[in-house]
Amino acid sequence: MQDRQDFDVLVIGSGIAGLFYSLQVAQHGTVGIVTKKQAADSATNWAQGGIAAVLADDDSFESHARDTIEAGAGLCREAVVNRVIERGPAMIDGLLKLGADFDHAASPAAGGTEFDLGREGGHSHRRILHHRDTTGREIERVLLARVLTHPNITMFETHCAVDLISARRAGVAGEDRVLGAYVIDDRTGQVLRFLSRVTMLATGGAGKIYLYTSNPDIASGDGMAMAYRAGASLGNMEFVQFHPTCLYHPLAKSFLITEAMRGEGGILRTSSGDAFMEGYHELKDLAPRDIVARAIDTELKRSGDDSAFLDMTHRDATFVRERFPNIYARCLEFGIDITREPIPVVPAAHYCCGGVNTNMSGETRLPNLFAAGEVACTGLHGANRLASNSLLEALVFADAAGTETARRLKDGVDLVDTVPAWSVGDATRSDEVVVITHNWDEIRRLMWNYVGIVRSDKRLLRAKARIELLQREIAEYYWDFKLTPDLIELRNLATVAELVVESAISRLESRGLHYTVDYPERDERFARDTIVSR
Ligand code: SIN
Repeated sequence: MQDRQDFDVLVIGSGIAGLFYSLQVAQHGTVGIVTKKQAADSATNWAQGGIAAVLADDDSFESHARDTIEAGAGLCREAVVNRVIERGPAMIDGLLKLGADFDHAASPAAGGTEFDLGREGGHSHRRILHHRDTTGREIERVLLARVLTHPNITMFETHCAVDLISARRAGVAGEDRVLGAYVIDDRTGQVLRFLSRVTMLATGGAGKIYLYTSNPDIASGDGMAMAYRAGASLGNMEFVQFHPTCLYHPLAKSFLITEAMRGEGGILRTSSGDAFMEGYHELKDLAPRDIVARAIDTELKRSGDDSAFLDMTHRDATFVRERFPNIYARCLEFGIDITREPIPVVPAAHYCCGGVNTNMSGETRLPNLFAAGEVACTGLHGANRLASNSLLEALVFADAAGTETARRLKDGVDLVDTVPAWSVGDATRSDEVVVITHNWDEIRRLMWNYVGIVRSDKRLLRAKARIELLQREIAEYYWDFKLTPDLIELRNLATVAELVVESAISRLESRGLHYTVDYPERDERFARDTIVSR
């Protein structure tokens, strides 16, 4: 069977960044999108809250920038912050032109904008555009509709990227650069060469390195691990954001309770009904996310309770049902009527603020390799991401990368067709798939226990020792047995977990999302990015 696919542009991942970028570049060349499950299986599709943008008369770019920088705890790149925020209105306009439907205000004059703008933690103004509580699904819907009918774009579902192909690895002369990727077709098990002039990593985050996460199953850090192996640099991997409120129920895997609920008056309570956020921050329930997550963690440790509770019962029941129809319906499936009883919630890993370092055009340090969305570290989030800034960041950087890619294609960047085929060697089919499951489980559990919301030197070193052991076992397994998507994900998961631990160990202070009991204060000697590369 043909083992090679050639495109001007290869896009890995089918969330907001990958799809928006594909639509920009498809006017200039052919685009192949590989996605390891179905096209709509992305974190974007799960995003509830919305997309932050300055649209109201009483809001300003300066105010949004201030809130972003305040949340970022001294590590945001100001030029990036200003650029992303100033591009906000144009990006929203772009989505509206593609057919996205955002909720409108009951009174068109509200704040001088036609939209119903929500509020989330750390924002000083209402500026979150949303489609009820399923904003990501709405954006994914309109982007996919365009992508799937575009004559220049081919979507490859159930195709899982194995590794980037660098010139160095392929033995191709000239400066090191990215020439495409090896990709496994999950239906046949065959590893294919996808060759391209330009490659975009839009693989999302790595929430699956933790036992409890709000992320979908695809979030196994594939792009970060592949970029690391290929020689790109990664930044700020220690800054993992824990969302304060995921539904606590034995059957409710990964179900997020949006922060927009607290924006609409939701109150966090202990099991005895006390509203505890008053004691932690002046913004109470709308304090930045790291503070709320740590407050819940502290309360649970103090009380021994299994969960905290998010109370919406004081709000009008019709409003709650109409504003949060998805959460209302899902909780009801578990026997919880959120209009009448508080929702049991716990924190869970939600977003990687670190990732593959990119410049203002979204290009990594490896020529012709771009990254956008959660996989990237652009400098916007610093040590802690402001809620609902990520969809905006994905659009702005996908757009910038699209512009640079168009220029690159016009300049005639080459497609190298001398890349060798994937070599299977002596690998045999494994008869012990259970090893993969055990290793997955062990990594996720140790990351949750030792590298979670509150860290310490001792726990981090313990995690490091265990991951190193696991890495050796996985490496052996990787070469002896035939590749499967599960094995690829396991290897990526272990790599990303190791990078998070390594980065956390090197930061001898507490800042933003990295909190350690051994260095509980911020220390300006560490007011810099943590960079790791091979
Ligand atoms: C939420 O809806 O609470 C999540 C929004 C975000 O992570 O930006």
